[in-house]
Amino acid sequence: MANQTDDLYFRQLLSGRDFAKSDEVAIQMRNFSYLIGDPQSRRCVVVDPAYAPNDLTQIAADDGYEIEAVLITHYHADHCGGRMMGMNLPGIAEVLDEMNVPIVINRQELEWVMKTTGLGKESFRLVDGGDKVQIGDVSVTMLHTPGHTPGSQCFLVRGRLVSGDTLFLDGCGRTDLPGGNPEELYRSLSSLAALPNDTDLYPGHDYSHRPHALLDDVKQHNVVFRAETLADWVRLFG
Ligand SMILES: [Fe+2]
Repeated sequence: MANQTDDLYFRQLLSGRDFAKSDEVAIQMRNFSYLIGDPQSRRCVVVDPAYAPNDLTQIAADDGYEIEAVLITHYHADHCGGRMMGMNLPGIAEVLDEMNVPIVINRQELEWVMKTTGLGKESFRLVDGGDKVQIGDVSVTMLHTPGHTPGSQCFLVRGRLVSGDTLFLDGCGRTDLPGGNPEELYRSLSSLAALPNDTDLYPGHDYSHRPHALLDDVKQHNVVFRAETLADWVRLFG
């Protein structure tokens, strides 16, 4: 099984290819969703279920895993479902129709996710940067990385960084959508750049010729790391 080790269940799944296979929006948007779990207890979380959440829960079930929480990187509907460009995408609301699990979001993202999905406060478990979500023996650390959105978060698990729309292998998330902030994104990218060089980066979209890469490599080749100061950054990307 792809990306599987003895002590970590980790699957990277591409929208329009691995799930939501006949969905034109899913095919065009090229979102990555993730299943992360503990092979001993056979429990897992799903990251950013959108388009066809039932496909994702079915993949986990076929692998013999029970989903115990949903982790959301940020409020955009291609990551959590809900309203986007006049459409209403399936997402966490449909997961909750199927199972009673907490939806884990950064505290700063609450009002935004509620607005996109129409879900009430009681559906969410609010976390801050540095908090951990435990799945059996596997611990996932929440990193608050604002800039693309106010409560964007990344997930660090056993040397792998699931980065949502904060950082792609090439480029980074936009800052011109509601809640975006270029200065905050600069600081967030700087904090990610300080992670160990052998961290494996798993982004929120398939925008490159490979699906994941080592941070060392990304820091050398991704233009967003060329700006050395905040002033340079705002001039180039703000
Ligand atoms: Fe986004």
